[in-house]
Amino acid sequence: MNVMTDVLTADDPLYEELYDVRKEAESIGNLTDLETVMPRVHQLRAEAAVHKGKLRELLGLTDHVRHVLAAGRQHYTVLTYAACEEAFRNAATFSNTVQGHPNQLGENTMGILEMDPPMHRAYRRTIQPKFLMPEAMGWWRTRTIDNIINRLIDRMAQGERADLNLDFCARVPVYTITTAIGLSGDEALTFRHAYLNSTSSSRNVTMEDRKRNAGLVEATLLKLINARRAEPEDDLISFLLATKLMMPGEPPRPLTDREIMTHAKLVMVAGGGTSWRQMGITIFALLTHPEQFDAIKQDRALIGDAIEEGLRWNPTAPYFYRMVMNDVEFYDHAIPAGSVLELGLGPANRDASRWERPDEFDMFRPKLTNMAFGLGTHRCLGMNVARVEIEAGINALLDAFPNFRLDPGAPAPFMTGGLEQQGVSGLPVLLR
Ligand code: HEM
Repeated sequence: MNVMTDVLTADDPLYEELYDVRKEAESIGNLTDLETVMPRVHQLRAEAAVHKGKLRELLGLTDHVRHVLAAGRQHYTVLTYAACEEAFRNAATFSNTVQGHPNQLGENTMGILEMDPPMHRAYRRTIQPKFLMPEAMGWWRTRTIDNIINRLIDRMAQGERADLNLDFCARVPVYTITTAIGLSGDEALTFRHAYLNSTSSSRNVTMEDRKRNAGLVEATLLKLINARRAEPEDDLISFLLATKLMMPGEPPRPLTDREIMTHAKLVMVAGGGTSWRQMGITIFALLTHPEQFDAIKQDRALIGDAIEEGLRWNPTAPYFYRMVMNDVEFYDHAIPAGSVLELGLGPANRDASRWERPDEFDMFRPKLTNMAFGLGTHRCLGMNVARVEIEAGINALLDAFPNFRLDPGAPAPFMTGGLEQQGVSGLPVLLR
């Protein structure tokens, strides 16, 4: 068999550096296993839907600042599904501006994630068409997802064992997103590495390194934009070059290079880590619930139900923040403008008033919307792509290795990470 060994399929040590959920949480400084605090979260939710204070304080954990713009402000923690939904759907009072991370130039860098309506709507419309379900099933899947999945399966088929976390789940999204943008697959890993090292203030990276990496990311993207402007191809950058921004009250205009770069960087960061970790969580759920895994082997149509239940049970991004824009009465609290709301998507997804036996993974439970992709204005742009990546991934694993199972000789995997991001410690499996 002729297996291509490029950076996506090679044993690059960068995978171990970038795709270790526990180390990632340690380097961010927020390591807390959500499962261990869940009993206390249930107690707090039963006492009140909304609590004054950060969830970390309420749980007795050391402080950790996720967003610079939230530092030093009074926080309120939202734990029920109903209260989270209300906050998500009221973008005028509960603003996304708190998620901005102003860079050295004073610019905000998180694009639509930190914008409020009506600006948010105008910008989101310039990119959204590429993320609808038909595009996810068609363009994304045929152009990139199937390609990388097949190559990774071929690579693993050479051995008897694999760590599906590193050998599979980590590699699918980074390749998918990078090549969708228009970069070559070979650039995927180094680009993600440079990007992560250019942004997060809590990583162990010096300011000098951060600037150097930011420069590298921008230079790579600018080169790509210029190349596609000269000669368009079938990729996101070419799509964004051809699109028009329609801001209310202004004539339609093309996006600037900086606006295109901001879109590309957000998609890169939002789509790289999340799908990796969520694919691992779904496979972990199946490997540790053999009767449900067997049901899927009999009827592959159930994979979709397992993905949705995995998202409810353990969403990879269980916390998001909002800035309170005006004084507001909210669930028995008079919350002053300038406060920060912590929206507990993870806790809301375990709300016992909505789901029976909320801590159990049960893909046969009645189908109800869960919060893993958020709700309302900022509902995840990439959710269809994520679902297709995970579904195509699990289907391909079962086609190639119908008997894959946890390796009893390896350490048992467990859920880990931080309050704001979680995944599995590893997925060591026997393939045959
Ligand atoms: C299972 C995987 C994923 C999960 C659990 C997830 C979760 C979320 C959540 C909860 C939000 C809302 C944030 C907020 O309300 O402030 C969001 C927004 C977003 N996601 Fe995802 N995401 C996933 C995969 C992806 C992928 C694959 C992409 C890109 C290809 C992506 C791109 C985005 C973008 C661009 C936004 C901002 C949308 C906006 O502000 O309008 N996500 N995601």
